[in-house]
Amino acid sequence: MTICFQSPIKPITIPQLTALSNPKLRFRCNLSLPSRYPLTSTEPEPVYASVKAFAPATIANLGPGFDFLGCAVDGLGDFVSLSLDPHVHPGEISISEISGDNANKLSKNPLWNCAGIAAIEVMKMLGIRSVGLSLSLEKGLPLGSGLGSSAASAAAAAVAVNEIFGGKLGVEELVMAGLKSEEKVSGYHADNVAPSIMGGFVLIRNYEPLEMIRLSFPEEKELFFVLVSPEFEAPTKKMRAALPTEIGMPHHVWNSSQAGALVAGVLQGDLMGLGKALSSDKIVEPTRAPLIPGMEGVKKAAIEAGAFGCTISGAGPTAVAVIDDEERGVEIGEQMVKAFLKEGNLKAVANVRRLDRAGARLVGSISR
Ligand code: HSE
Repeated sequence: MTICFQSPIKPITIPQLTALSNPKLRFRCNLSLPSRYPLTSTEPEPVYASVKAFAPATIANLGPGFDFLGCAVDGLGDFVSLSLDPHVHPGEISISEISGDNANKLSKNPLWNCAGIAAIEVMKMLGIRSVGLSLSLEKGLPLGSGLGSSAASAAAAAVAVNEIFGGKLGVEELVMAGLKSEEKVSGYHADNVAPSIMGGFVLIRNYEPLEMIRLSFPEEKELFFVLVSPEFEAPTKKMRAALPTEIGMPHHVWNSSQAGALVAGVLQGDLMGLGKALSSDKIVEPTRAPLIPGMEGVKKAAIEAGAFGCTISGAGPTAVAVIDDEERGVEIGEQMVKAFLKEGNLKAVANVRRLDRAGARLVGSISR
């Protein structure tokens, strides 16, 4: 039996470190998914007895990129452990444990759990009929926080199932599996699950067929996200229901140009341009911000404290600001926390994080 662990998140106690990175998780992809499952011609054999996967938190929308732009952030996320289990009916999956804050709010029925739904989808894609799986979910992310909590669970589960059977599927299939889960629990949008699986910045160009473009932020440039999460739940379904169903031409033109500028800012590593565009949404943010107590004041406080830009992370309530220096990020975070208390009467916590460039990955495995 071999035990291997790697984790950029926590120090590791098991001495033998082995890289388990799957090159399939690192593609830019432009493929559509064939309509019939399974996607593999023969049922793959499991290659591990158990695996553990991590998937990072994500910031969706990034201002004007509603439902089509998102990025992954390091050091925050969910873990899924998965084992072959002779007590589980072949071809099925059982959720044995859910831990972390608010774990009791999540269903252990795999059909109603983000991780379960994505895992089942990957099992279908692979045509798994001969073994049963047992899944345990460690929530590192708070629910309904705007940091892609449901997507991180789905991404970690999709990667874990794929890897236990030898990593036969590529990122586009894994994103499709995660999208199935998102559709059921929060809405049909891939701007959390795609960056959680792929890492970095991802643009979703089309949904049917799924087409994604990875946007490379230059390695040599510093980029820090100041994430300030208040004690307030903003369920994505509710925050989506509040959105306008139609927009006027001037707003369309404005938001399209700002989204273009945001993409240019990412590709050029131009943080000021990126921040300016991030702050500029005239369609979604103005509708949602009044639903999050203090959000307008928090944005103002972030900009006054020197942030290059600030907006709502995903559907909220987390506010995200960008800056090029970690210490200044901490100072900006303090001002944003104060503003949440003063303007919204909400306690909040600040995190300053870098971009996660790797996306969902195995952090441990036990061979058969
Ligand atoms: N694009 C989605 C929304 C992201 O804003 O509703 C949710 O995290």
